[in-house]
Amino acid sequence: MTRLFFDCDTGIDDSLALLYLLARPDVDVIGIASTAGNVPVDTVTANNLAWLELCGRTDIPVHTGSPVPLVAELMTTEDTHGPAGVGYAELPPATTSESQVDAADAWIDASLAHPGELIGLVTGPLTSLATAIRRDSALPGRLARLVIMGGAFHVHGNTTPVAEWNVAVDPEAAAEVFAAFGAEDATPPIVCPLDLTESVALTPDHLVRLAAAAGSSPVECPDPGDEPGLRSVAANPLIRHVVDAVRFYLEFHHAHDEGYIAHLHDPFAAMVALSPGIVTTIAARVDVEVTGRLTRGMTVADERSMTGAPNARITTSTDVDAVFDELLDRIATLARTLASSDNSDSGLLASGDRVGETVRRSPAAQARRA
Ligand code: RIB
Ligand code: CA
Repeated sequence: MTRLFFDCDTGIDDSLALLYLLARPDVDVIGIASTAGNVPVDTVTANNLAWLELCGRTDIPVHTGSPVPLVAELMTTEDTHGPAGVGYAELPPATTSESQVDAADAWIDASLAHPGELIGLVTGPLTSLATAIRRDSALPGRLARLVIMGGAFHVHGNTTPVAEWNVAVDPEAAAEVFAAFGAEDATPPIVCPLDLTESVALTPDHLVRLAAAAGSSPVECPDPGDEPGLRSVAANPLIRHVVDAVRFYLEFHHAHDEGYIAHLHDPFAAMVALSPGIVTTIAARVDVEVTGRLTRGMTVADERSMTGAPNARITTSTDVDAVFDELLDRIATLARTLASSDNSDSGLLASGDRVGETVRRSPAAQARRA
């Protein structure tokens, strides 16, 4: 079993990363740290608990981090991820509660329980991990691997012209984490920056493939001409919630002239955490600007060792089609399995029923295609 600790600011793409991890039977998710970012930390925790209960995984503890970054005031982005951080999805509220161990102590405990074999994955701001390292400076040396979704090196930022969201929310935390992983006994983190993650762009056709592979019906194809917020009627509960969540993200990117697509930053980072061989990387020394009036939150990569030895490996390329094949196949299998186990008592549509039904499009979409 691969043991992994997941630190996130659940969010729409964090949700897909979590579903991907849960869809991997060879992965033991030791715990989940909720970090404030896309939405406030208590909402992150509520989302993590809700997805876990929906997937029958209330055995996985959820640990809540600080409500605020190390220094900065909290910045959230409900316009990107929705008022509750999961787009239009209306997840059944969890009936379970978070752990009494906070996120930073959970990081420390997990690394002590599995020294030298634990994989860390961060898809949100680095506040919780930085706090853990402040409490226990030996933590980096105990991790087998750390993967961070964050930063922008040779592309425009998505939060400021030079800053990526996870780093922009808590630049001090990011700077402290990269500095800590410059220590000799630490394995440099693998960094998944916007430079590469923005190439993992989900389209409505990917949702069609996902629903069909899950045996869900009707198979729906969101369209930019749809009424905003059109809700899914997919029979498979997980597919229904995923389509509702992702539709919000498609509308957000479309409204910002990026196309009717959704950048899947976090599930890509999750896949890298489990299979680092799917990316090429370059070694670099990464540091974070924390004082610049225009450049605060900027990640700077020294690729020529001018400022010291490398403390990171920056991902530079991947096979995007293979990424989607793996992601869609895994989540479809999870959705199908959950539906078939639910069918035993709820009479939900059996997996595979009415598969092959034509793709369902809204009247507006049909008119556009006529
Ligand atoms: O910049 C993209 C990152 O910021 C993703 O992790 C997204 O979920 C937000 O946290
Ligand atoms: Ca995230």
